[in-house]
Amino acid sequence: MAILNLENVHKHFGGLPAVDGVTLGVDDGEILAIVGPNGAGKSTLLKSIIGVLKLTSGAIKFENVDITKMSTHRIRQSGVAMVLQTPRVFPSLTVEENVMVGAMFGKKAKTFSEFEAYDEAGAMLDFVGLRDKSKLAVDQLNLHEQRQVDFARALTGRPRLLLLDEVMAGLNPTETHASIEMIRSARDRLGVTIIWVEHVMKAVMNLAERVVVLDFGKLLADGRPETVMRDPGVIEAYLGKEVLPDA
Ligand SMILES: Nc1ncnc2c1ncn2[C@@H]1O[C@H](COP(=O)(O)OP(=O)(O)OP(=O)(O)O)[C@@H](O)[C@H]1O
Ligand SMILES: [Mg+2]
Repeated sequence: MAILNLENVHKHFGGLPAVDGVTLGVDDGEILAIVGPNGAGKSTLLKSIIGVLKLTSGAIKFENVDITKMSTHRIRQSGVAMVLQTPRVFPSLTVEENVMVGAMFGKKAKTFSEFEAYDEAGAMLDFVGLRDKSKLAVDQLNLHEQRQVDFARALTGRPRLLLLDEVMAGLNPTETHASIEMIRSARDRLGVTIIWVEHVMKAVMNLAERVVVLDFGKLLADGRPETVMRDPGVIEAYLGKEVLPDA
């Protein structure tokens, strides 16, 4: 069953199309990767789903509700969260305080008491493996740990859909592996559907169940990773050479 439907989505900037007629259904519980060259419209598409950018035309439906014109705040409350390449943390607050902010704005925000928000923050810090650093100021953490804080915050309030934009950029192989496992377990244990924009192809091949390729704002390919990555059109437009899972 589709949790998200994009219907002929267009987003123009000053008359130039960044997203140019994308129609796409995302199933509940999928891990979908979106790849493509720089400037293909990947981030624009994610920002349109979360409502930071408003569409030029087309429609976005989340759990069969039209969210095209909803505010980011309402979209967040209805169960969509996002993590970006640059962690959006409050450097002087503690790890725990940063995560509690999410509990106050997430899906269940209206029903959380302060105590429940605290509990939820703790549970999500456990989930990402940062509980032992709860009381540290976030500016004492490295990039990977700050992203984990961002993940924990996004997961508080239990979103149904998590949007990730290049969250593996700048990580070493050990951190990349940890990040892959964390995303997989967000889907497996928390039931979160994942839409993930990524340039780290090895990670895409290891984690994604389906890959969509965007090129000049249009869908170039859509299918299983091993099939898409061998598509001659995709190789020409983006990859340059074939990517194998353990390449
Ligand atoms: N706020 C904006 N104002 C004007 N043009 C924009 C804006 N945001 C993006 N664009 C343009 O839209 C196009 C798509 O950009 P977008 O950031 O979505 O690409 P991307 O696929 O995420 O690229 P990358 O892989 O480099 O992150 C680009 O041509 C970009 O210059
Ligand atoms: Mg981008």
